[in-house]
Amino acid sequence: MHIIFETPRLILRRFTEADASLVLFLNSQHEVLKYLHERPLINEADAATIIRTVILPQYQNNLGRWAIHVKGTNEFIGWCGLKYRPEIDENDLGYRLLPSAWGKGYATEAAKHTLEYGFNELQLAVITGRAHIENIASQKVLEKIGMQFIKEEVVDDGPVKMYIAVS
Ligand SMILES: CC(C)(COP(=O)(O)OP(=O)(O)OC[C@H]1O[C@@H](n2cnc3c(N)ncnc32)[C@H](O)[C@@H]1OP(=O)(O)O)[C@@H](O)C(=O)NCCC(=O)NCCS
Repeated sequence: MHIIFETPRLILRRFTEADASLVLFLNSQHEVLKYLHERPLINEADAATIIRTVILPQYQNNLGRWAIHVKGTNEFIGWCGLKYRPEIDENDLGYRLLPSAWGKGYATEAAKHTLEYGFNELQLAVITGRAHIENIASQKVLEKIGMQFIKEEVVDDGPVKMYIAVS
């Protein structure tokens, strides 16, 4: 298992092609996709394709979306991580948790340590984050880890708030 880092309650590790059932479970839930411009996954083959073509290629330069497990139980609760977006030359902080894990501060804990990892280990200068204007929980996570609101913009036809953190 390729562990990226641990937080007080969580372990973040790289996904592998063996994680199709976990990715399917997460990305087939409508509550999870409510504010995201994505279609639900329909089967494990679909999830395996996403892992192979979207998630694994992001692991260049130690970036990427990392699976989150709860220490002790090893329960999978979602992902958090940094994605390089070449079209806008930004390192983007993102997270996605199973509804059963919401409301426990896990997203904030994972995002805070991801920001620190990006600045301290990867030596990134700037990290950005975006949340749909109605996605208050996600905006709160970005604000609680100290990111600054910059502007509203439209991405994929959806209005979002953009946040930034500078090392
Ligand atoms: C965004 C997400 C990760 C947040 O998870 P979470 O478990 O609620 O996060 P946390 O517990 O760390 O903190 C969320 C904060 O928002 C608050 N919050 C949650 N829902 C809220 C709502 N509808 N209105 C106002 N505040 C809300 C919580 O109270 C908490 O703040 P607090 O610690 O001051 O009480 C989760 O909702 C999720 O995975 N959503 C689906 C995927 C997604 O939208 N990802 C983000 C894309 S930009």
